[in-house]
Amino acid sequence: MSRQVPLGVLISGSGSNLQAIMDAIKEKRLDAVIRIVISNRDDAYGLVRARNHNLPTEIVDHRKFPAREAYDQALVDLLKTHDVELVVLAGFMRLLSPVFVRAFSNRIMNIHPALLPAFPGLHVQRKALEYGVRFSGCTVHFVNEECDQGPIIIQAAVPVFPDDTEESLSARILKEEHRIYPRAIQLYSEGRLHVVGRRVLIDDLEKLEDQALVYPPLKG
Ligand code: GAR
Repeated sequence: MSRQVPLGVLISGSGSNLQAIMDAIKEKRLDAVIRIVISNRDDAYGLVRARNHNLPTEIVDHRKFPAREAYDQALVDLLKTHDVELVVLAGFMRLLSPVFVRAFSNRIMNIHPALLPAFPGLHVQRKALEYGVRFSGCTVHFVNEECDQGPIIIQAAVPVFPDDTEESLSARILKEEHRIYPRAIQLYSEGRLHVVGRRVLIDDLEKLEDQALVYPPLKG
């Protein structure tokens, strides 16, 4: 059963994932309503995108708080004031303390530009290139108290080409981010996600047999 899940979206930068979520709501692929967009930076382009969609925005600058916990409590208070149920981290480049994670337990999603648990942390597209993996991709996961280690909801894999740069690989991954993030939120909206230990069980999930990706290809 689907309903309009009240979202709070946290950003720090371009906000292209925010844009993908706003577009999915508009095109009725996603049953959700964005109650508030919060940025820790006043120059985040995502704020412009949000205002263009007439969404309420807030800037909460982490530098104005004495400690991480105080900052996170301010975010929690703001999100609760706006009756947010699900917190969506969309390029929000801040670690969350237990104060935040416990206030929205299993109700915070993050998107990460690698196939977790490979390449947690920062600059992960460059790290994937340097390592020489044949596939990288992106992961949407619930946030727990360990950075980039929460239960995985959905992943998309892309090939890594020999002539890729950090920019070209990032762009290929970002395109998939825009497809999987709205989908993950829609699965939540439909009540199909169940966190059991480390795993996310998904109701009525189709199996894809014989659909292995191979790169380089077996022929040619
Ligand atoms: C995205 O690639 C997202 O996966 C990444 O930041 C970018 C934000 O782009 N997030 C992280 O690295 C989180 N550790 P956007 O502002 O255009 O959505």
